Amino acid sequence: MITQESVERLKASIDIVDVISRYIEVKKVGATYKACCPFHDEKTPSFVINHNKGYYHCFGCGVSGDSIKFVMEYERIDFQSALESLAKIFNVSLDYTDSGYKPNEDYRILEKLNVFYIQNLSPSIREYIKSRGITDSLRDRFELGYAPKSYEVVKFMQDNFLNLNAVAEAKMLWRDDKNRYVAYLSERLTFPIRNENNKLVAFGGRILTNSTTQAKYKNTSNTELFNKSRILYGYNVAKDSIYKKEEIIITEGYMDTIMLHQAGFTNAVGTLGTALTKEHLPLISKGNPKVIVAYDGDRAGISAALKAANLLSLARKDGGVVIFKDGLDPADMVQCGKIKELKELFSNPIPLIEFVLVDILNKYDLQNPMQKDSCLNESISFLKQLSVVVFEEYKSWLSYRLNIPQHLIKINKPFEVLQSKIRNDSFYGIAEKCVIKSILEDESLLDLALNYLDIDMFKSQRGAYLKLLNGELEDSELIAIMCDENVIALNKKELKEQIIMIIAKHYDDKIALVKQDSTIDITTKLALLDNYQKYLKILKTGELVIYESISSI
Ligand code: UTP
Ligand code: MN
Repeated sequence: MITQESVERLKASIDIVDVISRYIEVKKVGATYKACCPFHDEKTPSFVINHNKGYYHCFGCGVSGDSIKFVMEYERIDFQSALESLAKIFNVSLDYTDSGYKPNEDYRILEKLNVFYIQNLSPSIREYIKSRGITDSLRDRFELGYAPKSYEVVKFMQDNFLNLNAVAEAKMLWRDDKNRYVAYLSERLTFPIRNENNKLVAFGGRILTNSTTQAKYKNTSNTELFNKSRILYGYNVAKDSIYKKEEIIITEGYMDTIMLHQAGFTNAVGTLGTALTKEHLPLISKGNPKVIVAYDGDRAGISAALKAANLLSLARKDGGVVIFKDGLDPADMVQCGKIKELKELFSNPIPLIEFVLVDILNKYDLQNPMQKDSCLNESISFLKQLSVVVFEEYKSWLSYRLNIPQHLIKINKPFEVLQSKIRNDSFYGIAEKCVIKSILEDESLLDLALNYLDIDMFKSQRGAYLKLLNGELEDSELIAIMCDENVIALNKKELKEQIIMIIAKHYDDKIALVKQDSTIDITTKLALLDNYQKYLKILKTGELVIYESISSI
């Protein structure tokens, strides 16, 4: 972990305009810095940087944050990697807390082994790779290598002074019953596994023959760095394409991923011999791509695809499943040159929900009324976990497939309808934002607002004002206000005038409400109106009224 102290030191020495200009073209327009947002497609700039405060906000797509967040999002890396990247640019040294465990040591060991494996690609191994249909360029992009005999691997480690205990921790080495070191991967083609931050965390290895006595593939065991159920093979290579195409193709393994890339489907990744799990969802969800499940066309593959479709649709992912005929897998399709068919399949996958529903339908004999009833119940149980819109959409689909009238397809307990209560009143909107921005720019103005503005007087920006009071200064709503050019930061005198206007409008509105309210008796009504008028009169002279005295009316 990087110490908080060095994070603060780094933050203090970075300049947001400088950081962002390294990635995209930033223009100075008047007092503000603007750019075309790199996170969505646009031709006129709506990405605004607040230079003083060190935040950006895009008024087109709503993204916002500080320099670190920008680097994380732009390079699609995690917090620590972003800090390391910024530290390099700004020449700031980072200190790490010493928890005894040093991931960097493991990364270093794995990188050294990777180089060693690549150097061990003999002509015959290269020939094997070629025979599997992988071009030299793809072999290099995926850094395929070869782990020689165990004693050679161990000798390499010793010759290079690698700490063998640390290598064993990284699960690349174990001791046999005679206490001798044995390399975990030997006489196998090697597939380095990098995480989404491009750090090398594990290896996979394939035997070169079709022996039945050995496992075809071996992956290193889970370590501090590597969790099989979370990682997606090839994500580091595919991520740009996943963001660009807004689509991710999930395959079963190494060869499928590499071969799809070779055929131009550069948004393909693979799970590592495990089913798709909930733990994969955070990575899959990055950039919110459409998810295409492209498993092997054998029975195991189809049943795994079904589980994946279930998981993904419950996680509200958009996407579908493709099924390859004759038990083929994506790698076979590419090797047989069926690129056109692949393209066709990927652009028309079976929608995830439909895939799950068809499976439910197939389990029942729909000629039998009792079974049809059970089938309907099971389908509804599945659908009602999704959204009300999805449920409505699939009503006609189900009614047609089950041959029953639509009105029979219903949920007993209605969906909760979320009431959106956003009030977008333009007067209050801008005026309240000005108050908030002024305080953000000059904290000493907070007292003025606290003394005179009751939270009830905030009509449109109440949430933002509360966040300001809670000190949630990095909240996106506040950052948006900070970067909004239409919202002006006021000085004390101007702020006072603005507050008077807000209070006056508040009482004008109240007067109108009280006049219409038939539940208040006439005496109270007159008293209330009289008071409101009195305060309005004071406000009109340019004096503020402490709100305690008003709200007690
Ligand atoms: P497959 O058996 O479908 O292998 O396993 P494949 O990808 O088609 O490989 P080739 O074409 O025969 O070389 C799919 C994935 O399951 C994992 C691997 O991640 C593999 O890519 N697997 C398979 C293992 O972990 N161990 C095994 O013994 C076999
Ligand atoms: Mn396969």
